[in-house]
Amino acid sequence: MAPPSFPNLTVLAHPLIQHKLTILRDRRTSTRDFKQLVNEIAMLMAYEVTQDLPLEPVDIETPLEKTTGRQVAGKKLTLVPILRAGLGMVEGISQLIPSARVGHIGLYRDHDTLQPVDYYFKIPSGEQDRTFFVLDPMLATGGSAVAAVSALKRAGAPRVRFLCLVAAPAGVQAMLDAHRDVPVYTAALDRELNAKGYILPGLGDAGDRLFGTR
Ligand code: PRP
Ligand code: URA
Repeated sequence: MAPPSFPNLTVLAHPLIQHKLTILRDRRTSTRDFKQLVNEIAMLMAYEVTQDLPLEPVDIETPLEKTTGRQVAGKKLTLVPILRAGLGMVEGISQLIPSARVGHIGLYRDHDTLQPVDYYFKIPSGEQDRTFFVLDPMLATGGSAVAAVSALKRAGAPRVRFLCLVAAPAGVQAMLDAHRDVPVYTAALDRELNAKGYILPGLGDAGDRLFGTR
């Protein structure tokens, strides 16, 4: 059966992303390799999702003469990992965009209700002029992503994009229902959720695999 298509969703099919994701999914992949792969995939995704950022002219001097170059317009991009697992994506993207600021949103999913519980929120000032990239490897029921984006919007964020490594159809639909204006980028759109809200085939518990807990 063909996977569902969503107007808010872009699946990044670059061969390197797909290759690394396959290793990431493998249950035998060590914590050390998992961490490195999450960063590498996030970096490759950042390259793709920044393709349409507006540029502005800037005057510079080469060793030989004055010229006009182009730089990304507006205030610095802001990365907002959802704790914990989103932290794994920050370093890779920061290597590509060293000037990016980093905010943090603390949320965990209650194991029984699957509802997000929030415990931390801190973003850099100047929200109005920033573009926010919310980072979380997993978009499952979508509860955490929807809550994180809602919190950002309440704080005044005008432009938000959501980056994940693996998404479930339910999560993409939840984002579409709650935040139609927020593009969702993923390396894979998986089949479904199991009864405990885990993505199938998925990659398991991203936070536990990243930090070696459990
Ligand atoms: C995981 C994941 C997302 C959330 C996705 O975090 O990193 O934040 O679950 O599920 P949802 O789409 O159904 O909300 P978790 O709650 O396990 O917290 P952790 O990162 O602190 O382990
Ligand atoms: N959170 C995870 O870490 N993995 C899933 O499959 C779903 C939610």
